Amino acid sequence: MRTQVAIIGAGPSGLLLGQLLHKAGIANIIIERQSADYVLGRIRAGILEQITVDLLKEAGVGARVAAEGTVHHSIELVYRNTRHPIDVTGLTGGKVVTAYGQTEVTKDLMDARAAAGLTTLYSAADVSIHDFDGSSPVVRFRQDGELKELACDFIAGCDGFHGVCRASVPEGAITEYEKVYPFGWLGVLADVPPVSTHAIVYANSERGFGLCSMRSLTRSRYYVQCPIEDKVEQWSDDRFWDELRRRLDPEMAERMVTGPSIEKSIAPLRSFVAEPMRFGRLFLAGDAAHIVPPTGAKGLNLAASDVKYLSNALVEYYHERTSAGIDDYSRKALARVWRAERFSWWLTSLMHRFPDTQGFGQKVQEAELEYLVNSEAASRSLAENYVGLPLDFAQIR
Ligand code: FAD
Ligand code: PHB
Repeated sequence: MRTQVAIIGAGPSGLLLGQLLHKAGIANIIIERQSADYVLGRIRAGILEQITVDLLKEAGVGARVAAEGTVHHSIELVYRNTRHPIDVTGLTGGKVVTAYGQTEVTKDLMDARAAAGLTTLYSAADVSIHDFDGSSPVVRFRQDGELKELACDFIAGCDGFHGVCRASVPEGAITEYEKVYPFGWLGVLADVPPVSTHAIVYANSERGFGLCSMRSLTRSRYYVQCPIEDKVEQWSDDRFWDELRRRLDPEMAERMVTGPSIEKSIAPLRSFVAEPMRFGRLFLAGDAAHIVPPTGAKGLNLAASDVKYLSNALVEYYHERTSAGIDDYSRKALARVWRAERFSWWLTSLMHRFPDTQGFGQKVQEAELEYLVNSEAASRSLAENYVGLPLDFAQIR
């Protein structure tokens, strides 16, 4: 087998890259470790920046998010059980975010890929990548018990945090920056109408962080901060609903509709960046290169912006015969990544209870929340990061 770009991983970054390259006439094959159903069953992100929605449109899959996504113009911050709306659209000159699940984004991209007759090799075992420091990289894997080989010009490592691509880079060639947080998020998906359909609710309470999000007008996604060592089995649905209610303001707690969970999981929180994001003919994109704690809803959006930079660079390489774009990919992507890392770390620090958030730390957190909701300058800073910083590096330098 041979292709121009071998993409490892059929998550949002791999699928979106495949679609953008295909639109530009660049051949690509995706190799994915899991089955398509498994990939679709993972419940993850839910908030899309306008840049991400625009990219989906550019990739030819913008129709359903436009029809079924819910546009948000604000966010609601809750602390001391009182609600404080932030007018995100007013503070950013008209920008919005869209509530639309990662599962739906993945489904739209998979459907488009199938309709275009493009190859995705699912359930590929023992994927390994070779010779990306030379001119003829190769991907080897096992499918249906058979050893297979894919030759290519470039490899795109879109295989997430635990993937094989970053792990294949020689140790001396990569620098990793990491911060692990001392708590997790317990998430519940339930077929109940969201308590807030116009805004995500972020709650700082003395019992810990709480978040109210949505997947549609009939499906809610809610989270509570929990000890990292907790197991899902320790959290009955009743215990979860009771805990979330106590972290909200009384009116919202009263109004919240509860019901049986259809998914329940605990995710650890981590900040992580690997530098650089290019090694010869291997590029890393999305979670393969960086992780943000979910508090700012930036993970999926960063995957999308990486892929935009990378697809532009590869299109330039094939159509204009210049390496300038691929040479600049890592610098450009990392500039935006670090800004999102900062925002996600800051919002996480502001909204959660830390084991050491007592005394001075606690007082500073309260002062910052007061400042944030009462200062237009501080609210605007939150708003412009929440809707997503521009893709154009010159504007964010
Ligand atoms: P992934 O979605 O991880 O896709 C990588 C793909 O590569 C997977 O399909 C995987 O099976 C495949 N793969 C892995 N190893 C191999 C291999 N060796 N060979 C072949 N294929 C391989 N972000 C938010 O904004 N909000 C959230 O609430 C949120 N919740 C999250 C919860 C969890 C549990 C996780 C893990 C992430 C969450 N994120 C959230 C982050 C967001 O979902 C990710 O940033 C996004 O999925 C990144 O997309 P990706 O395509 O880069 O990586
Ligand atoms: C989600 O809908 O899963 C979600 C929304 C906003 C966040 C994190 C997660 O900040």
